[in-house]
Amino acid sequence: MSFISRELFCLLAPLESLRSSDIKGITSIEELKKAKLDDHLSQYCLGEYKPAIITDNLFSFFRFTDKQAYLIIIDKQSDSNSELGRYNFYGLLDTYGKGKIVASCTTLSTEKIKKSINLTNVIITQGQAFILELCQFHTDYDESQDWWMRDPIYEIILSSYQDSNNDGIGDIQGLRQRLDYIQSLGMKTIWLTPIYPSPWKDYGYDISNFCDIDSRFGTLDDFRELIKDLHSRHMRIIIDFVPNHTANTHLWFQAALRNDPNYIDYYIWHEGKNNGKDLPTNWVGASGQHMWTYSPERKMYYLHQFLDSQPDLNFRNEKVMEEMKKILRFWLDMGVDGFRADAVRHLIENDQFRDEPLSKNAKDSDPEVMYDAYEHTETADQPGSYVLVRRWRKFFDEYAYENNRDYIFLATEAYAQDIKKVMEHFALNREELGSDVSINFLITYYLDKEDDEKHGLALDKQLSEWHSNLPDHAWSNWCLGSHDSRRIATRLPQKELIDGFYMLLLLQSGTALVYYGDEIGMFDRPFKLEHREEFLDITAFNYGDKHAEEKTRDCQRTPMQWTDQLPYAGFTSGTSKPYLPLSDTWHEVNVEQQEKATRSHLKLFQQLVKLRQQSPFYGGNQKKVISTKELYAFIRWLDTNVFLIVINMNKIGQNPVTTDFMKLLKYKDKELLGEIVARSCNVLDDSPNGKEGNQINLNKLILQSSEAIVVKLQASAHDIPFCRP
Ligand code: GLC
Ligand code: CA
Repeated sequence: MSFISRELFCLLAPLESLRSSDIKGITSIEELKKAKLDDHLSQYCLGEYKPAIITDNLFSFFRFTDKQAYLIIIDKQSDSNSELGRYNFYGLLDTYGKGKIVASCTTLSTEKIKKSINLTNVIITQGQAFILELCQFHTDYDESQDWWMRDPIYEIILSSYQDSNNDGIGDIQGLRQRLDYIQSLGMKTIWLTPIYPSPWKDYGYDISNFCDIDSRFGTLDDFRELIKDLHSRHMRIIIDFVPNHTANTHLWFQAALRNDPNYIDYYIWHEGKNNGKDLPTNWVGASGQHMWTYSPERKMYYLHQFLDSQPDLNFRNEKVMEEMKKILRFWLDMGVDGFRADAVRHLIENDQFRDEPLSKNAKDSDPEVMYDAYEHTETADQPGSYVLVRRWRKFFDEYAYENNRDYIFLATEAYAQDIKKVMEHFALNREELGSDVSINFLITYYLDKEDDEKHGLALDKQLSEWHSNLPDHAWSNWCLGSHDSRRIATRLPQKELIDGFYMLLLLQSGTALVYYGDEIGMFDRPFKLEHREEFLDITAFNYGDKHAEEKTRDCQRTPMQWTDQLPYAGFTSGTSKPYLPLSDTWHEVNVEQQEKATRSHLKLFQQLVKLRQQSPFYGGNQKKVISTKELYAFIRWLDTNVFLIVINMNKIGQNPVTTDFMKLLKYKDKELLGEIVARSCNVLDDSPNGKEGNQINLNKLILQSSEAIVVKLQASAHDIPFCRP
């Protein structure tokens, strides 16, 4: 590694393309032209030139041939202030995803040189200049940077995963016993929904202490052990970060109620209209209540976008932001690898306190309780909320830099119907970094449709909506469900289709979020009003008894189904009943059986997770090939690796669908063969698609109803016209 002056880096660009503003703060162009290109630099001065990010502070460009590519980055500032520059170069040059420093103007530690830099988040210190030798994501997998991209993230509700002390509630020690299983799935990152002390009015999303563990789950020491276990297995952990609100039992809120001047402004208060007789606004929240509740103690209303027991924090108060940073630091110091930030679209409300208009789309929605009865113009997706997310991203970058930590990950949850509002969380440009994963709920919205509206065209509409709105610089992501939506196995018009949906989840480009139990196709458990005592998600009752069964989220949060053994499917040993009843289907749907079977949802899931680690799935190209009511197919490719994924969307019992993929791919040679790499469980063993390794002819690909297959084409992407730009 040689270190070279910043001036010389400019010489790698064709001199005629340089403008004096590009190199501001370095030297004049005339001076520069006299300089001689250093010998060890000239090897990088090859092929074509393409400008990358050029701003007041940064000059950067690519040099590349079809075999090699370099990114040259020059920070133009020479005065020293300690701000770190952070830029996103991802998506600017083909599928190149990362790079290693091969020359720099400063001496670098060997560690820095060895580490590959992910183009989504390149950190630059003042006055620095360096050359990155670029490579594809898959060729240089670097655990320290990529862990959140290649390997799926497994969402776990701790209370529903594994009980270790027979009180009927899943806990940290229970989870530790299941790490072998999680690893066997190929999951390397777990996401735990809230584990903090909580009165549990909203499954722990009502937090009474942000820096502790609920005693039902264990202790901070248990949690430290869990992190140690995970890290020793090269696994990662992210936790839910719930900045929007606290529980009403939180000390801050209690102090605010007592009129403690230090804490009043931690929350949002309003005197109300008409001398306090009327609510301040007509705002209705996301948990079936008006957003204002009167506090007799303070004789004022406080704001809550969710339950009245979840008062909203006031992010216009910088002290609250400082508290949040303290909390984040607390968990980062303990070794947590990242966060899923909850409810970010609700972080800030317009402080003009204007009423919200009724929504034109909401037909029968009761405006007293239904969130979708309104256009949330004043209380959701406010500009200030995006700023907060960016500030957290920046905080993580600085923390990682100062503490020499691996990449700290940030996912954000925003259930906005307007896709642009979701995309904005990724940051609008390449100079401002936002959420790494602004969670993509579009497949779950597809599943919300009536069964007869679920078909290939409707699916395509959702997938295309995502793809066409995803900014070039953003890394994609997918999920099939979460603790907030019904399970996919219950919602598919044909349960066998779940395997095809695994292919969409795991083989499309982007991070995959997996909800625990979906890997075995767990079903919802219906909760019935006759057994009111079984409900835990009390939010459901805010919509009136009429809606409680449909609104409760308990159905998808039932305990994990490990075995077909009595009494409780291996979740708990039987001294106490599980805190939430198991789904009745655990006799047929459980891990043990699916592990034993030659083919099962679980086995296919594992197979696909392995596949996605390789080229072209990790970081390669992707394009839809066909969508009709009956069929959805897409292609992934990089160089010689080309895979076709085809899903027959029909319900079982329809005629088979035959498709000429040679024609669709515009392939001109005599024949195009493919090899079966994976297939849904419902494909018959002795059919042409039945076994991995079988050869099939692409001009006549036949799929039965609800079947899905992954085929490796025996052709290189260069020979398939469809794969050309
Ligand atoms: C998020 C969570 C949901 C919770 C709400 C309030 O939407 O996913 O479960 O009820 O925030 O914290
Ligand atoms: Ca327990």
